[in-house]
Amino acid sequence: MSPNATRADDHRAVVRKELLDSVLQRYEATTDARLREIMEAAVRHLHAFASEVGLTRDEWFAGIQFLTATGQKCDDVRQEFILLSDTLGVSTLVESITYEAAEGATENTVLGPFHVPGSRDLAAGESIVIGDDPGQPVLIRGTVTDPDGAPVADAVLDVWQTSSTGFYAVQQPDEQDPQNCRGLFRTDASGAYEFRTVRPADYPIPGDGPVGSLLAACGRGLMRAGHTHVMVSAPGFKTLITHVFDADSAHLHDDAVFGVRESLVRDFNSGVVTFDIVLSPSDGPSEGPS
Ligand code: BEZ
Ligand code: FE
Repeated sequence: MSPNATRADDHRAVVRKELLDSVLQRYEATTDARLREIMEAAVRHLHAFASEVGLTRDEWFAGIQFLTATGQKCDDVRQEFILLSDTLGVSTLVESITYEAAEGATENTVLGPFHVPGSRDLAAGESIVIGDDPGQPVLIRGTVTDPDGAPVADAVLDVWQTSSTGFYAVQQPDEQDPQNCRGLFRTDASGAYEFRTVRPADYPIPGDGPVGSLLAACGRGLMRAGHTHVMVSAPGFKTLITHVFDADSAHLHDDAVFGVRESLVRDFNSGVVTFDIVLSPSDGPSEGPS
């Protein structure tokens, strides 16, 4: 017992320990060992968190209301829970746990909620921009290789970004063609790829939901550093989910979702960006988002 702890404090600690033990006991029958491990750790950490901050009933209810509102904000194109995970840094943490990059391989980063499967196939050098966009034209090019430098032919690059307005096509169904600023490219026999686009703008993550309100309450910003998303898949390699960032962005150091990696930052000023990609071999089939 610490010098200032009372007998009542002591008793409370014993009751809490007994409560935790009895909750954990209920999970002992879980036949799926991994599910049991996850549930036991989740319960232990949740109890420790509530005890550490002395969480009150009103505060816990506010948390439940927040999570309820987060779920209610979700629909076919808006995933507020992903946003919550992203802004807590958990998406980046989970990506770093899941994606074991080979030495020298390109770093990965978050997928984000705006990847839409089913982009159109485009030929090397074509533009992902549909119609007029006042943004600075940019050519992004590079090679896809294995860690020894051997070219990876026929790798598929799924690329997407905001238009220069800072919105993805999926966010502006009435203003943008749904295929705007996205496309699929393949590497040639030498592993080379290239595509045209506009310089990606810094943009705010959606702030009109409960996650935005929480960030505001915590004095945090919504901005992401300007980037183009690139997802690269090829048989025999792990699917790489990454971005190429604009070195001139004002938000490289306070990116709202902790996605920036120094190795992924490039100078966009000349209008030509070289982004060479090194894939990590996989032992099994390449994994990616379903
Ligand atoms: C994105 O880069 O598209 C993104 C990532 C996380 C949250 C919101 C947007
Ligand atoms: Fe993005």
